[in-house]
Amino acid sequence: MNYRHGFHAGNFADVVKHLALVAVLEYLKRKTAPFAYIDSHAGCGVYDLFGSAAVRTKEAEGGILRLAGLTYGPAVLSVYLELAADGHAYPGSPLIAAKLKRPEDRLVAIERHPEEFAALGACLKPYRKARAVEADGYARLAAMPPPPERRGLILIDPPFEDENEFETCACAFASAFRRFATGIYLLWFPVKAAAEADRFCGEILAAGVRKALRIDVTLKAVVEGKLDMAGLVAVNPPYGLEAEMRGCLDAVLPRLDAAASIKWLAGGE
Ligand SMILES: C[S@@+](CC[C@H](N)C(=O)[O-])C[C@H]1O[C@@H](n2cnc3c(N)ncnc32)[C@H](O)[C@@H]1O
Repeated sequence: MNYRHGFHAGNFADVVKHLALVAVLEYLKRKTAPFAYIDSHAGCGVYDLFGSAAVRTKEAEGGILRLAGLTYGPAVLSVYLELAADGHAYPGSPLIAAKLKRPEDRLVAIERHPEEFAALGACLKPYRKARAVEADGYARLAAMPPPPERRGLILIDPPFEDENEFETCACAFASAFRRFATGIYLLWFPVKAAAEADRFCGEILAAGVRKALRIDVTLKAVVEGKLDMAGLVAVNPPYGLEAEMRGCLDAVLPRLDAAASIKWLAGGE
């Protein structure tokens, strides 16, 4: 449990993941019926991009901080940039969801690290129907009953610090998917070796997934010892997510000095 997201908050991978998160949440709000949002690895909720952890790695400087003043792009990008406008309070995934959800939508944010959990609880306190849970996100996912709302988004965003974490993550996803096959899932993963990432995506599909979109983003400049490629799989992506993400990435990639690949692993529009 060494991973602290404060060192990585707002980096290129967070930008892409949080754009997809905003896009799916905005889609879910188009219907009046309430939805559930479950964040299996939530982090502490809010990050100071000028604080000591962020300044040490400078990852936000290569990510969200490069997007200042960007004025063109799809509506999803504007929503994200507005949420991220204060670099002293960059919102992590649970806070993005808390700010975008309606009072009747339900948010459950799971975090295992005691200090991160305490901060997360404080961060979510002002929001209705937003609960922080101190637990193992994988165990919770594996035992997850279908949300009573019968519609919703599950974000699975682990640190991938354990040796078998790809396998653990795929197994927990498969258990959750068996119970809630109509849910939308966003799974983030680092791409350190192409074969490992491909195998992980194969395991996700093997759970019986019929529709999945994969988005990979690669930084053009490689820095020794730093992650330069990250992926995201959207299972049951809402109609239009591919176009929304293409529009967002067209706007942000030149600033991030990065390239992207978007492809359907199963199904399509
Ligand atoms: C990548 S960070 C999450 C970032 C967050 N989703 C966001 O986008 O702002 C991963 C988090 O998972 C937590 N974590 C690690 N193992 C966990 C587990 N088994 N269950 C729940 N949380 C875990 C870490 O403490 C860390 O805060």
